[in-house]
Amino acid sequence: MRLSGRIQNLKPTAVNSILAEVRELQAGGADLVSLMRGEPDLPTPPHIVEAAGRALSAGRTAYPDNRGEPKLREAVAAKLVRENGLSYDPGTEILVTTGATFGIYAALAAILDAGDEVILPDPVYDAYLSPVRLAGGVPVAAASAIVNGRFTLSREALEAAWTPRSRALVLNTPWNPTGTVFTRAEIESIAEFAAERDLWVIADEIYEAIVYGEARHVSPAAAVPAMRGRTILVNALSKTYSMTGWRVGYCAAPADAIRAMFLVLQQSSRGPATFVQDAAAAALAGPQECVAEMRAEYAARRTRVLEGLSGIPGCQVLAPEGGFFAMADCRGLGLASNDIRQRLLRQHGVVTVHGSAYGPAGEGTLRVSFASGGATLSRGLERLARGLKEIAQGAEAQPRTTESTTCR
Ligand SMILES: Cc1ncc(COP(=O)(O)O)c(C=O)c1O
Repeated sequence: MRLSGRIQNLKPTAVNSILAEVRELQAGGADLVSLMRGEPDLPTPPHIVEAAGRALSAGRTAYPDNRGEPKLREAVAAKLVRENGLSYDPGTEILVTTGATFGIYAALAAILDAGDEVILPDPVYDAYLSPVRLAGGVPVAAASAIVNGRFTLSREALEAAWTPRSRALVLNTPWNPTGTVFTRAEIESIAEFAAERDLWVIADEIYEAIVYGEARHVSPAAAVPAMRGRTILVNALSKTYSMTGWRVGYCAAPADAIRAMFLVLQQSSRGPATFVQDAAAAALAGPQECVAEMRAEYAARRTRVLEGLSGIPGCQVLAPEGGFFAMADCRGLGLASNDIRQRLLRQHGVVTVHGSAYGPAGEGTLRVSFASGGATLSRGLERLARGLKEIAQGAEAQPRTTESTTCR
């Protein structure tokens, strides 16, 4: 039977494509260690699990308020004031969603008309591409560059991506896959661009709680006063509270945008389960020590990654400022990142994601996840270091085929 032509515009994410390869190799008996996924291995804190249990026992199993249970919307509003310096009306400016994924989808569906262009930083979290297309939009890359050991997005790159059809910019800070946390000055410059070009900004802040050292998360909507009216803030509890499987997130935006997104939501997901929303309210309104503990754990893992992958000729790990991914800049090896990934997978049994899967500006890099720690991280890093050293030795023995010292 015939399927919709629209579906041809949708692509599996890089992680899903690599997972298919991994499963095939594992079915053939391969012993693989994965440093690929953005799935925290830490359990959801007990007080959140208990809140869900209590809600279930109390019979909180009927349809939820489709906009989001009032208690959760109020907890979101209070959190946004407390942590982001942002004030939103829980009655009209907040929408509870099935994870950040649905928030992004609803935001795009609410603002795009057919042929509208959406500027996406390159390298980009590739799961933004298909929803842009599904909403009739056209993804356009704004190429970043590695400057002083971090991926940066310049005003020039944004201008080069802009056309009169540009409608929105998706900004992810902390930025998956690169690990960059935009500084206040950078966000202000992006905000100026968005205002001058009259763009919506979809701000995906899902990694906001996981920042390191001097880096501080700045909500784009709070950066300059004019941003609040053009920003759709997207967030979820998935990473902050290790709640990936609970499928609960939220958006905050001007009432018009939330109204439009609510219409999209009513025709599709109708929001997370009622008892899940009660647990989410407990997470946001309850003690936050668990978040600090997780951040400390990720910081320790980050150090292990930086140490474990140091001293490899042709490769340098860019110290992530936030999130739980590190980009290994392997451009010095002079090989395509997908070739490096394949060799690491097939010859050394370690799974990573090639940077080019996230766009041309990621070419020559590998995304290494430390969402899993413990023995997985130790074994994965050992294999990765050994594999990269072996590839580096081979690369030295062979004449270079490509010039690979600069990223776009
Ligand atoms: C940048 C970014 N946004 C959104 C998501 C998806 O979030 P959720 O699981 O809450 O739908 C992810 C998950 O990896 C992500 O990395």
